[in-house]
Amino acid sequence: MTTTEKLYEGKAKIIYPTDNPNILLSYFKDDATAFNALKKGQIKGKGVVNCAVSSALFQWLESKGILTHFIDQISDNEMRVYGVKIIPLEVVIRNIAAGSLCKQTGIDQGKILPFPLVEFYLKDDALGDPLLTKDRILMLEIVTEDQLQILKETALKINQYLIEFFNLCQITLVDFKLEFGLDQEGKLRLADEISPDTCRLWDQTETDPTGKIMDKDRFRQDLGDVESAYQKVQERVLKQLSVIS
Ligand code: TMP
Repeated sequence: MTTTEKLYEGKAKIIYPTDNPNILLSYFKDDATAFNALKKGQIKGKGVVNCAVSSALFQWLESKGILTHFIDQISDNEMRVYGVKIIPLEVVIRNIAAGSLCKQTGIDQGKILPFPLVEFYLKDDALGDPLLTKDRILMLEIVTEDQLQILKETALKINQYLIEFFNLCQITLVDFKLEFGLDQEGKLRLADEISPDTCRLWDQTETDPTGKIMDKDRFRQDLGDVESAYQKVQERVLKQLSVIS
């Protein structure tokens, strides 16, 4: 791990500068939080899993023509990324009802949605990342109407590519969260991470509703076997990446 002074430390990652001002180093921690950091803990080996899974999925998306901040993975829990100015929106895409969608709408968990739902939340921990409306996004001048449309279209494309990839791993992509940023040239790039921390992933080889959960819900709901579930995701994702590349 680098000893350089950190640029930024979040709940799950630390960002370090490099010799090149356009390139940053993202270090994936084992620290885990849920419910806006009300619940805190550690998931042993999580940093390694999330770095490996994110690297694999960014490479898969790049191969499909999606611009990401990923450059390369330089150690088990470090990747080099392009520095981007993060757009303060958490873009959530849902294929199957779970989590806050069920709590807020009363829809049954596990219901296949009639279309992939794209939602925007304000990336602001102090405010608890509230769900936004289109008009609120425009009123806050976070992005323009055109940029919002591009974000939605890009999120839907990413969803299709990720569903395809995870299906090959015998994993159902229930929902997930994305973050985007603008690079030096003003180009939109997918940033942050795509991992069992930021996705709901259900094992297609399991029938038991609790047994099939392979993501951070195991930590959020104290379901146990968190580490082994994360490991299983990593194994399947890396195996699949080696098959297709
Ligand atoms: P939710 O059902 O709690 O709104 O979560 C939707 C998806 O977004 C789920 O896959 C988990 C992910 N997520 C994050 O990555 N970070 C967050 O802070 C939250 C609340 C959800």
